[in-house]
Amino acid sequence: MARRLEGKVAVVTGGSRGIGSAICRELAAEGAFVYVNYASSPDAAQAVLDVIRGSGGDGALLQFDVSDREAVSKALGGVLDERGTVHVLVNNAGITRDTLLARMKEEDWDRVLDVNLKGVFNCTQAVLRAMMKARWGRIINIGSVVGAMGNAGQANYAAAKAGLAGFAKSLAREVAPRGITVNVVAPGFIETDMTKVLPDKIKEQLLGQIPVGRMGTAEEVAAAVSFLASDSASYITGHVLHVNGGLLCE
Ligand SMILES: NC(=O)c1ccc[n+]([C@@H]2O[C@H](COP(=O)([O-])OP(=O)(O)OC[C@H]3O[C@@H](n4cnc5c(N)ncnc54)[C@H](OP(=O)(O)O)[C@@H]3O)[C@@H](O)[C@H]2O)c1
Repeated sequence: MARRLEGKVAVVTGGSRGIGSAICRELAAEGAFVYVNYASSPDAAQAVLDVIRGSGGDGALLQFDVSDREAVSKALGGVLDERGTVHVLVNNAGITRDTLLARMKEEDWDRVLDVNLKGVFNCTQAVLRAMMKARWGRIINIGSVVGAMGNAGQANYAAAKAGLAGFAKSLAREVAPRGITVNVVAPGFIETDMTKVLPDKIKEQLLGQIPVGRMGTAEEVAAAVSFLASDSASYITGHVLHVNGGLLCE
């Protein structure tokens, strides 16, 4: 079968671990040249690239903190100089700083909004002009079920993730005539480092609310991203695609 992203250039933020690393592997398996972005885990990012190359794919590493506008612009500007455009941008990098709002420090609010929401603005704006010129593009933001249903202790995270949906729906309208789609993939509870830290009691409670009866895998999220990145999804834009085992049915 023909690979869906042959000849395409993809950038995945936070590609060094968890969901992002699975997205990098999946897009590369579909034929894309994948830039694996990382902030602070060079060895993990290199391991992702090694797996990609070991499977016959190709890519490169790209270090920057998505919240650092200057660093983003420099790194993605370099990609554009080299490749002309970025066909697929996956805004996956994300962090949590969980605590009840009454106790939330301003820095916990600011850091989560800076990485999870402003990071998406920074990365998207850095590639948008080139994408518009190329008249083909896919922007896929990794949101969260929490952005749609809320979660005690995650007001900062939920606000950022809900913001991504508003961002995608607005930008989708701006760039649709240029052949660019903008969507959100909203995972439920997925087995990664981010959820490893949850206490067993919370995990058990959560599992009880998931009709499929288990946490999801990073590969199951990556499969949704790969579909939205493909030509097959050209008529889907401004959409939030939930990958949550039925935890929230919308
Ligand atoms: N796991 C879940 O259950 C779940 C559910 C819903 C949504 N999500 C979302 O899915 C995305 C990935 O989550 P995950 O579970 O895979 O997280 P993870 O295992 O903690 O990995 C986070 C990734 O983001 C990168 N990152 C963090 N801050 C960054 C920054 N400032 N700039 C660039 N990269 C940065 C990390 O890179 P370094 O290690 O190099 O710093 C790492 O590769 C996030 O947006 C998260 O909110 C996750």
